[in-house]
Amino acid sequence: MFSQTDEDAPVLHVEDYEFAIRIRGLVNRFGDTLVHDGLDLDVKRGEILGIVGGSGTGKSVMMRSIIGLQTPEAGEIEVFGSTLDTISDEREGRELRRRWGVMFQGGALFSTLTVAENIQVPIREYYPRMDNKFMDEIAAYKVAMVGLPADAAPKFPAELSGGMVKRAGLARALALDPALLFLDEPTAGLDPIGAAKFDRLIRELADTMRLTVFLITHDLDSLYATCDRVAVLAEKKVIAIGTIDELLATEHEWIQDYFNGPRGRAAANGNQTATPHGAKTV
Ligand SMILES: Nc1ncnc2c1ncn2[C@@H]1O[C@H](COP(=O)(O)OP(=O)(O)OP(=O)(O)O)[C@@H](O)[C@H]1O
Ligand SMILES: [Mg+2]
Repeated sequence: MFSQTDEDAPVLHVEDYEFAIRIRGLVNRFGDTLVHDGLDLDVKRGEILGIVGGSGTGKSVMMRSIIGLQTPEAGEIEVFGSTLDTISDEREGRELRRRWGVMFQGGALFSTLTVAENIQVPIREYYPRMDNKFMDEIAAYKVAMVGLPADAAPKFPAELSGGMVKRAGLARALALDPALLFLDEPTAGLDPIGAAKFDRLIRELADTMRLTVFLITHDLDSLYATCDRVAVLAEKKVIAIGTIDELLATEHEWIQDYFNGPRGRAAANGNQTATPHGAKTV
């Protein structure tokens, strides 16, 4: 539900909604390739939902459809009760977009901008009149929030390690204090220790900021460490959604192979023996 502020700008009250995202009958096609065929999905507000599926099954296309970068052939997508393409008030569409943050697959930062300037890109877009000093304070705060040292703020992406670039990408996605965070393969390319640290960071931020997280990942350790539920994309649809235990109870061959294959079993064992600090017991 939107309400008006004194300046007449609409404000979205996300806490009014049980679901952050509802998708019904989504169809996406590129030429002869049918990617989604009647896909349904509900993402509960406040959960971390993992999205898994083979490469090319349409995980990124689904995310792009939700945030309005891909126009589906058919279907309905609601984010916090609103459908982007039917919002009649342009300022309400803008307010809805302001409430989500996105870290795209590959997580590219603008290479000619410093970390701080990258974080400020979405802020400048939504608050063009904000003064530079305040903008720098927000960037410094976001840098600290994602666990980067303060001296990372004036650096260019090429001067950072891969893990630091991921954190900077996350800081940019969090720039506008979103209610909904989209992460497309955020730990890809990180070493296992770096990936585990990143997983813990996401879990902590989600808990403290009451975020809903749409987390696309191939990383089984991430699923066990961070997700409340997991949705499985196969056969052009979400074929199952639930906790990992619930998914393990299904008969589906792809799900069984995925979670009960050698890598799945290793991730499950790692999770069971993890201490609260994330260190593995021997
Ligand atoms: N802009 C586009 N034009 C044409 N085809 C596209 C486009 N974007 C995606 N596709 C096709 O849609 C299908 C789904 O792609 P998508 O990127 O969503 O897969 P994915 O599940 O994210 O895979 P991965 O795990 O490798 O990232 C693929 O067959 C891809 O080639
Ligand atoms: Mg993808």
